[in-house]
Amino acid sequence: MSNRKMITAALPYANGPVHIGHLAGVYIPADVYARFQRRSGKDVAFICGSDEHGIPITIRAKKEGVTPQDIVDKYHEIIKKSFSDLGISFDEYSRTTSEKHYETSQDFFKVLYEKGKFTEEVSEQYFDEQAGEFLADRYIVGTCPNCGNENAYGDQCEKCGSTLSPSELINPKSMLSGNVPILKDTKNWYLPLNEYEDFLNEWIIEGHKDDWKPNVYGQVKSWLNDGLKPRAMTRDLNWGVPVPLPNAEGKVLYVWFDAPIGYISFTKEWAEKNGKNWKDYWQNENSDLVHFIGKDNIVFHCIIFPAMMKAHGDYIMPKNVPAFEFLNLENDKISTSRNWAVWAHEYVEEFPGQQDVLRYALLSSAPETKDNNFTWKDFQTKNNSELVGIFGNFINRVAVLIHKYYDGVVPQGDVNSPELKEINKTAKEISGFLENYEFRNALTALMNLARFGNQYLQNEEPWKTIKDSPEKAAQSLFVGAQLAVALAQLCEPFMPFSSEKLLTMFNAKQVNWNDVETQSVLIETGHKINEASLLFSKIEDSVIEAQIEKLEQTKQNNKKTNPNANPMKEEISFDDFAKIDLRTATILEAEKVEKADKLLKFKVDTGVDIRTVVSGVAESFTPEELVGKQVMILLNLAPRKIRGIESQGMFLLTTKPDGKLSFVTPDDSNVENGIEIG
Ligand code: 2FM
Ligand code: ZN
Repeated sequence: MSNRKMITAALPYANGPVHIGHLAGVYIPADVYARFQRRSGKDVAFICGSDEHGIPITIRAKKEGVTPQDIVDKYHEIIKKSFSDLGISFDEYSRTTSEKHYETSQDFFKVLYEKGKFTEEVSEQYFDEQAGEFLADRYIVGTCPNCGNENAYGDQCEKCGSTLSPSELINPKSMLSGNVPILKDTKNWYLPLNEYEDFLNEWIIEGHKDDWKPNVYGQVKSWLNDGLKPRAMTRDLNWGVPVPLPNAEGKVLYVWFDAPIGYISFTKEWAEKNGKNWKDYWQNENSDLVHFIGKDNIVFHCIIFPAMMKAHGDYIMPKNVPAFEFLNLENDKISTSRNWAVWAHEYVEEFPGQQDVLRYALLSSAPETKDNNFTWKDFQTKNNSELVGIFGNFINRVAVLIHKYYDGVVPQGDVNSPELKEINKTAKEISGFLENYEFRNALTALMNLARFGNQYLQNEEPWKTIKDSPEKAAQSLFVGAQLAVALAQLCEPFMPFSSEKLLTMFNAKQVNWNDVETQSVLIETGHKINEASLLFSKIEDSVIEAQIEKLEQTKQNNKKTNPNANPMKEEISFDDFAKIDLRTATILEAEKVEKADKLLKFKVDTGVDIRTVVSGVAESFTPEELVGKQVMILLNLAPRKIRGIESQGMFLLTTKPDGKLSFVTPDDSNVENGIEIG
């Protein structure tokens, strides 16, 4: 086994705060692993940072009416603070907009380019002529060919869940301008993943059948069975790391090319600050590279990034990629857009000093092999019955009794007591489980030692023996003290805050994991301990009810009063709204448009001018009945040619239950033309 551990945790997108799903599925297990490896004397680099490029960021920026840089600056800080508040012990938490990252990812690209590892391909991509930009799939909306949803995206329909490509959308429109995008040729650099199939088959399918998790191995196998295709490593976008080649203006590195290189860039940043050599961690077979990720990231970490590193030639391959499944909240999928989540930063504020409770609860329901569920009731039970009732109770009894009978001094006992073997056994068990990425089993082994301690005290009853056989009482509390300190030592990877408190309480220092596996005594007779303090406290029903109520409120907010109503469109900023010029107007003339059953042509007095509007209302009205009608018009819509007639505006219309259209009209008939609406 190697002495060096290069541990990475998936870079969270800096487009929103982190929630319990992220924590349970990536960051807490990764932290437990990193802490455990440090305690085992390994040379650990535990690296992460914010993923600040990619479409999720630009979409969020558009939504909030700010720049992508504003978005990443805001969320990077929030995310970084949440991790630190929850004791996630990254050696480095950086960001992909850092200078070092630009340099590292561009260099990486150049090496592949110069080695001839890319193919250049010209493809047709949607282009918004008005915005002058190529459109990412997410930026194209249109009608879903499968369910008819008019707001489907170029990569996915959120109504029926089907995966789409932009060319499948009916009536595709650009989200940037609302115009119909055109197809335009563009050149990009592709990594021919198909050329890495043999390598991947040999390395993973043959080499890691037994030591990688079945969910990871299975996914990789199915990708390889389906056959790999070349994948574009550059994109036509204006947010990202610029492609470092001449004539590549307006092109950036694909976010899944630059993000994993972030692990390397951030290791460099850390190494520079700490007098280390980053290559020892990334380019030396004596280093174990381990990626902690969620299951949606498997292909990127097991196929694409390894192929990139293989193409480069200087890098080691990951030793393991322990990917987790997903965590649900109260039996419903966690969703940022529906606000169905427990947010890390809110938890920290609402449960001050109780970080370890969340760490414990999330670890004990970590979605290791299948999706799992978090409920507030369960959280309460884990705290009240397990942390308070078992763990805290045992430690408290030991500390209080040592103070009561021995003035806080560890009494005399037999260093060969058989019970002490439980400590070594538990330490080895936990170690075995953690080496195998079995976090829940490791936590159970820890709790079993606390259970053992409770049972031991219950059987020994030192509060009784102290009267008639004080030696026996001393022996019981000597053993009790060893068990308590063992728990203090062993709980550190899982509950670092409590471990620190406990070590202070027993006036003890942290030792290596190996010492706990082998030593028979962790705290000597005659050692003076500090005041006993309460480790965990009961969480009352009212606190849990308030959290459930908060979720109930979210549910209410998300509920549709009309099941037929389409979901809300993308949020717009006030500035966007202010651009819309809506006015009252009167229809002066109306006539049918030749050879068009649905269209009527109007002359309209808008108060500002008299103009022509073509509108598809012929199946709901006769021209005659509309003359003289006061209506509302969108005045500053760019003119459009409809059947050769230029239409200069759009009426506000709605649909009645019978499917007929109806005009939105002012409530008051005495409104002048040209009055602004808003
Ligand atoms: O899925 C995600 O949230 C990505 N931001 C993960 C990136 S991991 C790595 F490759 F950078
Ligand atoms: Zn659909």
